[in-house]
Order: sequence, then structure tokens, then C-alpha cells
Amino acid sequence: MHNPALAALGLDWRYLACDVHPDRLREAIAGAQAMKFIGLNLTVPHKLLAVDLVDELDASARTWGAVNTVRFEAKDAFGAWQPLAKLNPDDIGELRSHGFNTDADAITRSLREDLGFEPRGASVLQLGAGGAGRTAALKLASDGVGALYLVNRTQSKAEEVAAEIRSRFPSVRAQAGWPEREVDLVLNSTSLGLKPGDGSPLDEAKFPLRRARAVYDMIYRPAETPLLRDAKAAGCKVANGLGMLLYQGVKALEIWTGQPAPVELMRAALLRNVYGPA
Ligand code: ATR
Repeated sequence: MHNPALAALGLDWRYLACDVHPDRLREAIAGAQAMKFIGLNLTVPHKLLAVDLVDELDASARTWGAVNTVRFEAKDAFGAWQPLAKLNPDDIGELRSHGFNTDADAITRSLREDLGFEPRGASVLQLGAGGAGRTAALKLASDGVGALYLVNRTQSKAEEVAAEIRSRFPSVRAQAGWPEREVDLVLNSTSLGLKPGDGSPLDEAKFPLRRARAVYDMIYRPAETPLLRDAKAAGCKVANGLGMLLYQGVKALEIWTGQPAPVELMRAALLRNVYGPA
């Protein structure tokens, strides 16, 4: 999605994927900086490690404890740090790395744009309390959901996340367990549904899908998981996690370029890349 967007913005940049062993991450970031890269994206486990490796942390990275986007910066003529995109390459002296997190905002942006879901005051049943689940639950809480029900295979993890939410966001009713009533959203953050032959992460004996207004699955490949298939059949509004992937990329591109990203072009490129030509 990035290369077509860079071409559309008229930028002579390239987005490349590199395999880096976690033990070499410090050197990899320093090397990219020395080569005056514009920036980087990082994925698991690097995005957790990078929190301690970048020179400066944006509030987003501090809040969510992960860096998925790095922007390299240098000082301008007035001594202020600027993204490399804004500087003449010949004027670049001292450099630094600046870490951001664009994942958390992408969750609520995708829920809003793909499902019309507004977090404030809403009730949510979240399946899964791993790394991605914890971030999603905290982000929903910080956006003011009214009630959050957390269900996880390992119940103690759901209880831990619920307790963390109650202490950081006391106005949110967060609890481990199934809701007794209808919810505005069911959100799957488990990995169940990724592999062929996987079942649904939702036990309909505990919570029938007709009690959910909308269902979001963070999985985007396959495009329709058993959960989304069942949810559609039950009449729920549904969306998969492609929007999350798209919007974290959109925000990262805007951080690097300082310009609005061509969102629809990026979406089309992503759809082609993930699901093949239409
Ligand atoms: P991620 O960073 O993608 O969130 P993770 O932290 O390993 O990865 O979390 C994976 C999530 O999927 C967890 O909620 C996990 O449940 P456990 O905490 O009990 O491990 C859930 N998960 C994985 N496989 C599952 C399965 N077969 N059935 C139900 N839940 C599953």
C-alpha cells in the first residue's frame, strides 16, 4: 500500500521489507538512520523492543508501550528537529530516531469507518486478552466505552486486563465474563480463525450472536472467518481487520511525509495484495 501511495504523492522513495533478528534491532535502526532513511515500520516483537531503542518517544508510543513507526529527524537551521522529508539532504547533520504508535488509533478508526461504531458509552464483548487484545481493550476504554466484557481462553489474563482498565479508567465497567444483555460490538482479538479448520472463538451457548449489533474480527486473512460468517448469518453488521492494517499504514505515511495519505488508493493496493486481483 505504501509504494503506490508514494508514487501518487510524487515521492522518489521506496518501502522495503527487511528481516532483522531481534538481537540486531539496535544496529538495524542505527544503520537506517546513518543511511538517512525517512523512517521505518516495525512489527512484533520489534515494536516492543524499540521502545527502549529510539531517541525520542511520541506520546502515542508511551501510552501504548510499543513503537510500530519510526521517523528519522535532523535539526533545521534554527536548531529545531524536523522530519528528514522536510530537509535538504545536503543540510542533514545530527540525526535522531523518533518512535510513534499508529496501531491503537487504527483500531477505533476502523471500527468507526467500517462499522459505524462509536465507542462513547457503548457496550463491548471482547474475545481475547493477549497483546493485541490488551491494546484494543485499553484503547476502547480510553475512548470512553461504557461497559467492556472480556472473555479469554486463559481466564486469568482477561481478569488482569479488566483490573488494569478499572484502575486506569474508573468510569468504564470492565469485567471478565460473558454479558447478560445485548452489546453494541463483539470484537475478536484472538488468533482463532486464522488457520484452515479453526472454529469460531465465540461460544454461542454463552452468548448468541443475535444479541450483538456488530462484529469485528481483527483477522483479515481469511477475509471471512467462521465468526464473521456466523455473525453475518445472525444479521450483524460485520468487518474484518483489514481496516486496522490500512489505517496504521495511513497514519505512518502521514507521519513520514507530513501530507495527507491517499487512503482509497492505499486500500485498493492492500486489497489486491492481500486477496489477489478482484
Ligand atoms: P497477539 O499479539 O496477536 O495478541 P497473543 O498475545 O499470543 O498474540 O494472543 C493470542 C490470543 O489468542 C490470546 O487471547 C489467546 O488466548 P490465551 O491467552 O488463552 O493463550 C488466544 N488464542 C490463541 N489460540 C486460541 C485458541 N485455540 N482458542 C482460543 N483462544 C486462542
